[in-house]
Amino acid sequence: MEKPYILHMLTTEKNLSPFDVNMAQDAGWQVTMPYLCIAESEVRSLIQDAIFSRGPSGVKRTAAFIGGRDPELAVKMLNTARESMVPPFEISVLADPSGAFTTAAAMVAAAERELGKKFSTDLTDKNIIILAGTGPVGQIAAVLCAKSGAKVAIFGRKKEKSERIANLCNAFFGEGNIQIQAQGNDELEKYLPTADVVFATGAAGIQLLSAEQVASAPNLKVAADVNAVPPPGIAGIDAMADGTPIEGSTSGAVGIGALAIGNIKYKAHQRLLQLMRDSASPVYLHYDQAFAIAREYIQSQS
Ligand SMILES: NC(=O)c1ccc[n+]([C@@H]2O[C@H](COP(=O)([O-])OP(=O)(O)OC[C@H]3O[C@@H](n4cnc5c(N)ncnc54)[C@H](OP(=O)(O)O)[C@@H]3O)[C@@H](O)[C@H]2O)c1
Repeated sequence: MEKPYILHMLTTEKNLSPFDVNMAQDAGWQVTMPYLCIAESEVRSLIQDAIFSRGPSGVKRTAAFIGGRDPELAVKMLNTARESMVPPFEISVLADPSGAFTTAAAMVAAAERELGKKFSTDLTDKNIIILAGTGPVGQIAAVLCAKSGAKVAIFGRKKEKSERIANLCNAFFGEGNIQIQAQGNDELEKYLPTADVVFATGAAGIQLLSAEQVASAPNLKVAADVNAVPPPGIAGIDAMADGTPIEGSTSGAVGIGALAIGNIKYKAHQRLLQLMRDSASPVYLHYDQAFAIAREYIQSQS
């Protein structure tokens, strides 16, 4: 009998995301085994338990997924998992806490596409504002933009929280090579006139940018909103918008809505899961690989 494809799905939370389970099964992982409320200190023994039991052919049909809510913890768990491998007993691992890595990758790749298509430019040196950028999606979007050469500011209700997250992004995710700024929302009016790109990454159902504020951004080129629950996070961007002109924008900016982003996120997530199944050697996947795959997918569509 051929050995089944087994995905060991670890989460720090009390539940796995059903979305992640569906995605894994649909990508060909036949057994999706949940491990709940997992601490970072438990990752090594779980991974080593998984790698030794199936022999060389079975190890190729085994992988791990790391979920949870916290991007920093997920990357630390991914690193620990990778360090726990004992060649030739090695398995692939994907981290995507809260779907944030694939969602941020999809949103930034879609914005980059619109910058190229409509404004013949890219992310380099663009002023990017990330509204409610302190959550998992916002912080990873900030990192991807900064690593692509943009000047990024994370905004939030409390400047101290924005600063804490910007410091985490710069030191941990960016390894000291990026310089994301932090602001409180009271500074938004000052920054909007310089913004080339605005991302809204707030909790569901909260409007973060009004129609008047959109109109007050004379350099705005692209705005994207990941929130699918009305009202839109950015006024004038429908959830289906996909490079659609934003009514009331004085600069001819285009909008990308949550469902258009969700479509790219879905493809990127699916490809990452398939890569773990099909790759000849083990792969270790997080937001960088998600971004590369989202970009590839977008290019394949043009
Ligand atoms: N389109 C897709 O495919 C897709 C996939 C996954 C997730 N999502 C969506 O992506 C968004 C971001 O997800 P996430 O997990 O990163 O979000 P989150 O952690 O729940 O929230 C992000 C930030 O929103 C701000 N916020 C929370 N409550 C608020 C309130 N009442 N008023 C104003 N701001 C508030 C907070 O920032 P401050 O405290 O700093 O203000 C928080 O850090 C969500 O809307 C989620 O539904 C979309």
